[in-house]
Amino acid sequence: MRIMRIGILTSGGDSPGMNAAIRAAVRCGTGLGLEMFGVRRGFSGLIDGDLVPLDDRAVGGIIERGGTLLGSARCPEFLTAAGQKSALSTISERALTGLVVIGGNGSLHGARWLQEHGVPTIGIPASIDNDLHGTAMAIGVDTALNTVVNSLDRLRDTAAAHARAFVVEVMGRSSGYIAVMGGLAGGAEIVLVPETPVSLEQVAKRIENGLKKGKHHSIIVVAEGFIPAEFIPTRSATTGDAPDHRSATRQKSAGRMVSDFLEETGAIETRLTILGHLQRGGSPSAFDRILASRFGETAVRLLLERTTGVMTAFVGQQVVAVPLAEIDQPSANFDPGIYGLINKIAT
Ligand code: F6P
Repeated sequence: MRIMRIGILTSGGDSPGMNAAIRAAVRCGTGLGLEMFGVRRGFSGLIDGDLVPLDDRAVGGIIERGGTLLGSARCPEFLTAAGQKSALSTISERALTGLVVIGGNGSLHGARWLQEHGVPTIGIPASIDNDLHGTAMAIGVDTALNTVVNSLDRLRDTAAAHARAFVVEVMGRSSGYIAVMGGLAGGAEIVLVPETPVSLEQVAKRIENGLKKGKHHSIIVVAEGFIPAEFIPTRSATTGDAPDHRSATRQKSAGRMVSDFLEETGAIETRLTILGHLQRGGSPSAFDRILASRFGETAVRLLLERTTGVMTAFVGQQVVAVPLAEIDQPSANFDPGIYGLINKIAT
C-alpha cells in the first residue's frame, strides 16, 4: 500500500527552522501527490484529534518565521496508556498512513514509540540543545548560537565600559554544546559546562589571574546544566549513596551560583544575564532554513520509500537516515578539543 495521508507535528521546545521543515515536507509531499495534514500542539493534537489539512498555500510565508505554525507542546499525557491509545485512534480514524515528528529528544522517543506500534514514522531533529545522537546539527542550533554570540558582543561592550565580569547563562539542558560553541565564537574568557567539572574556586582563581594580566573585564558563559565540582554528588564509600546536593543546586540557577560566588570573593564587580528563551526565538538563520528544508524533503522521501523508524540526520554535509532505535546513545556533539581551544585562546 502506498503511503498517501501524512501527518506532521512539531513537539517539545520549539526551535527556529521548524516552519521551514514543515513547509518543505508539505510542498514535497503535495508535489508527489500525497495528502498532507498538520497536527496542532504536538502529541496533544494527536491525542485530541486536532488536525488541519495543509496545502502549498497554507505553508506560504513561513520560511523566515521562528516558532512553529502548528504550535508545540510538552505532552506528559502521551506517556500514559490512555494518551497513547487516543493518539493511535486518531491516526486510524483519520487514516494517516505516515507521520513526521519534528522535535528534540523526548519527541523522537515519541516517534520511536509510534513506529514500534505500527505507525510508519520519521523523526526530524529540532532542538537548540544539539544533544541528539547521530546528527552533527539539529534544526535551530545555528540560530540559537547566533543569538548567543550577538548577546555576548553586546554584553562585552558594557562589561568593558564598567570593568565588570559578566556571567551569561545559556540553555542546553544537560548539554554544554551551546555554551562551548557560543563561548568560543563570542570570545568568552571562561565556559562552564556539565561535561567538564570545574570548581567555583577555580573560576575565581582564573578571574584573578586574568586581572593580574591586565584583563579588566571578563565574560563567563555558563551552561544551565553546569554543576560546580564541589556540588557534584560523590557516592559514600560505605553505603554507596550519593549525598543529596540537589537542594544546593536547585535553589539557584547555575549562572546565579557562579555570579554570587564571584561577587562574594570581591575580586571583581559581577553581573548575571540569563539569556533564557530569547535563544529559542527569532528568524532562522540561512543554515537552519537550508538544513530544515533538506530534512523536510528527505522525511517525505523516506516515508515513500518505506524506510521508516528513522530520523533525518546531518553527517558530513549529507542528509542521511539514522535509526530511531539508536537515539538513546550519547551525542558526540560536545567536543573536548573545542572546549580546550577556548582555554588556549582566552589567555
Ligand atoms: O530543549 C530545549 C530547551 O530550550 C532547553 O535548552 C531548556 O532547558 C528547556 O527547553 C526549557 O524548556 P521550557 O521551554 O519547557 O521551559
